[in-house]
Amino acid sequence: MRTLIVFYSRTGTTATIAKSLANRLDADVREIGCGRYAGGLLHYLLAGYDSVRGNLPEIEMTEFAAEQYDLVMIGTPIWTSHPSLPVRTFLNRKPELPARVAVFLTHGGHSPPQTCIDELAELLPVPIEAKLTFNSAQVSDGKFADDVADFANELESRSHR
Ligand SMILES: Cc1cc2nc3c(=O)[nH]c(=O)nc-3n(C[C@H](O)[C@H](O)[C@H](O)COP(=O)(O)O)c2cc1C
Repeated sequence: MRTLIVFYSRTGTTATIAKSLANRLDADVREIGCGRYAGGLLHYLLAGYDSVRGNLPEIEMTEFAAEQYDLVMIGTPIWTSHPSLPVRTFLNRKPELPARVAVFLTHGGHSPPQTCIDELAELLPVPIEAKLTFNSAQVSDGKFADDVADFANELESRSHR
């Protein structure tokens, strides 16, 4: 299974999961860069302000060839119940994606992830094949390896069906 992981992470939580999945699946990785929200409290507040208003930021990301992959996994933190703005910018550009897309989310535990998943589903050109969510405390406590392994196993077993 040739897998690409595309993710955005402001403070490293989603990046930790992306790297763990990439190791487990031997996947390629593309990080979405976004200078607008890189920094401390003011940037956090700006992210919240923009997120509520849907102000999509500029992003930086290396091109990829979708046809080289069987599966793309998209990782994002939840921002004000939405996918993070850099991921919304990425998906609004209507990138070419393979038929198989999975998503993983990290969040602070103060909003149900379903709103974010529904929004990702609306932005994606194909149905979400699988999804996984992580509480940021779970990630900082290092308690995510089993969930990552189960998720990777599930995706690999589907590719053999
Ligand atoms: C602007 C902003 C808005 C957020 N909104 C939510 C939210 O609505 N619900 C929630 O559970 N966590 C929320 N969080 C917390 C993040 O989803 C959580 O800390 C996430 O794991 C951060 O991922 P990262 O370290 O990869 O950036 C928000 C964080 C930011 C910066």
